[in-house]
Amino acid sequence: MARYLVIHGPNLNRLGMRDPALYGSQTLDEVNGLIAERAAVLGVEVAFFQGNSEGAIIDYGQAEAGGADGIVINPGAYGHYSYAIHDALLDAGKPIAEVHLSNVFARDEWRRRSVISPIARGVVSGFGWRGYCAALEMLTALANE
Ligand code: DQA
Repeated sequence: MARYLVIHGPNLNRLGMRDPALYGSQTLDEVNGLIAERAAVLGVEVAFFQGNSEGAIIDYGQAEAGGADGIVINPGAYGHYSYAIHDALLDAGKPIAEVHLSNVFARDEWRRRSVISPIARGVVSGFGWRGYCAALEMLTALANE
């Protein structure tokens, strides 16, 4: 069975409490539950991780990417500037889908830039938790092409 990593970056442990109008009212556990439901329908396995620090995210990727078929990542604010996470994802050598709950293009100017997008297979932004499911579905479909 294909296995995908779902990585949530900094502050996403606060989902449900942090600006629900932007990020939704579901908690991170609830969002992961919804992704797991979609994974079951798609017939793939998912492993979840949330990290508030660059190092934690990189360590997880280094430990787990080898056994994975792809990575769905919401890098949070790190996506806008972390070359270290960019390098770690590049090194993982697996298809990457970048997800943002909010529409980063409709917000602050600095959120429009991502250092992850150039190495991602695709980007989903603005569709809330459904974006993770869409990203997982796209990576699965591409792997089965
Ligand atoms: C986010 C968008 C980022 O700009 C922000 O820093 C986040 C969440 C999103 O999911 O919309 O922490 O990645």
